[in-house]
Amino acid sequence: MVFGKLMNNKITNFIKKKNKSKIISLTAYSKNVASIIDKHCDLILVGDSLGSVLYNFSSTKKVTLDMMIEHSKSVRMGVTKSLLVVDMPYNTYRNSKEALSNAKKIISKTKCDAIKLEGGKKVVQIIKTLIKNKIPVMGHLGILPQSATNFKFKGKKLTERNKILKDSKLLEEAGVFSIVLECVESSLAKEITKTVKVPTIGIGASVHCDGQVLVTDDLIGLNKIKARFVKRYSNIEKQINDATLKFKKDVVTSKFPTKKHSY
Ligand code: KIV
Repeated sequence: MVFGKLMNNKITNFIKKKNKSKIISLTAYSKNVASIIDKHCDLILVGDSLGSVLYNFSSTKKVTLDMMIEHSKSVRMGVTKSLLVVDMPYNTYRNSKEALSNAKKIISKTKCDAIKLEGGKKVVQIIKTLIKNKIPVMGHLGILPQSATNFKFKGKKLTERNKILKDSKLLEEAGVFSIVLECVESSLAKEITKTVKVPTIGIGASVHCDGQVLVTDDLIGLNKIKARFVKRYSNIEKQINDATLKFKKDVVTSKFPTKKHSY
């Protein structure tokens, strides 16, 4: 396996979690959230989902390299324990030369541990180039938001199943240290997870994956997405709303600020 020789300790320890403990992974776009979730995560992803979650973009295609770098610099300040992975945005890895130059820029400016990019066979040569240059790469199969024409789950048709399974083997051979499986049918996710030696991280890809990732804003109820794969674990929207209302009431009735909060 390529990663054995080239990868650093943090990455090899991450890979070793496969078949030992479930891998916990979430997204973060800023320092404050990152520092809270870091304690409980194995991997924190600065996903290009920030385009839709924070900027209301209709697709991740509009996310730029500079946006990813600035958000990742903020997240880096909150992450001490987890592996920090940054998404390479759309049109920043169209060939090996472009990918290498942009990945080096992301790593040097954000001090992240690895980058993630979307695709199978098409990106194998690019992944090999990055890994040859000591840049750890996470793969991403299933729904590929940067090129998707629809957001239906993957793996219903046999041809599609075979392609995704083959792509997962190609990514492994190219040297990725992990693969995100997005909205992949359960039995296919199970087969891929059994087949490849690197951890699979599922989002809408069943309990059979080695780990799970969710967009943190979905998990805490700050984002209003209604996808089947999202489970809301808290209702931060309500908490922010309630705090704002209390603040408003205190200001209107001159209960805030008191002497305690004044100079
Ligand atoms: O952009 C993102 O947040 C992602 C995760 C959903 C895996 O790629």
